[in-house]
Amino acid sequence: MNKDWFKTWFDSPYYHQLYKDRNDEEAQSFLRNLLNKLDPPINATILDLACGKGRHSRYLNTLGYNVTGADLSKSSVEWAKQFENEKLHFLIQDMREAIKGGDFNCIFNLFTSFGYFTDIRDNINVLSSVHEMLNDDGCFVIDFLNVSKIIANLVKEETKHVDGLDFSIERRVENDIIIKKISFNDRGTQFNFSEQVQAFKLIDFENMLEVANFTIAGVYGNYKMESFDESTSDRLILICKKKKG
Ligand SMILES: C[S@@+](CC[C@H](N)C(=O)[O-])C[C@H]1O[C@@H](n2cnc3c(N)ncnc32)[C@H](O)[C@@H]1O
Repeated sequence: MNKDWFKTWFDSPYYHQLYKDRNDEEAQSFLRNLLNKLDPPINATILDLACGKGRHSRYLNTLGYNVTGADLSKSSVEWAKQFENEKLHFLIQDMREAIKGGDFNCIFNLFTSFGYFTDIRDNINVLSSVHEMLNDDGCFVIDFLNVSKIIANLVKEETKHVDGLDFSIERRVENDIIIKKISFNDRGTQFNFSEQVQAFKLIDFENMLEVANFTIAGVYGNYKMESFDESTSDRLILICKKKKG
């Protein structure tokens, strides 16, 4: 297994092609529901950590917030930079490290942008960096998949036809990692990528967040921010605060 799979797959145009239905509309409707719960002040500074091409960052900026989008993918950040303004900035950043001088009211980690690292300490490093960059009264939101539902309904093989390409997808769970192999042929060239996400359940997040000095203030199960149910919810969305004292 390639432990650095996330550096290549997310930086390729094919990732964006395969996931094109994860679009601006989905991001905006989720954020409207999320912001109803959080109600950040209009001058809030928000970090969209692992922002991809910035679909959440751009919308937050249109609402008036001061937004930084950070991602490891050079191509995604370069694309997002065309939208920069005095209250919207993008940078290439590894989420395992804190942004120097970072000081945010809210930090969002959205659409399964966690659990990529084979070394468990790297996941804690992400949480520790978030802790370092978050104001004392700030909130941290993780939007992860609901592993129990995904595994119970695992589609082992399928082909997705998207914009002229046939993506063959194989899924399996191995050593508590959900592995998705993605293969396709583009104009005679064969490509093989993989996604590997740790199968973290709520209890795993509770343990990791405790170690990183966070408490969980809310648990939700979808982008409408309805309650989390382990057997039926599509998502596992956590609103976290820094522990006091
Ligand atoms: C599933 S995508 C989600 C992107 C975005 N949040 C969205 O909803 O469109 C995961 C993102 O995490 C980024 N990523 C992966 N590893 C990272 C790392 N170590 N540091 C920062 N970003 C990373 C990828 O480049 C990719 O853009």
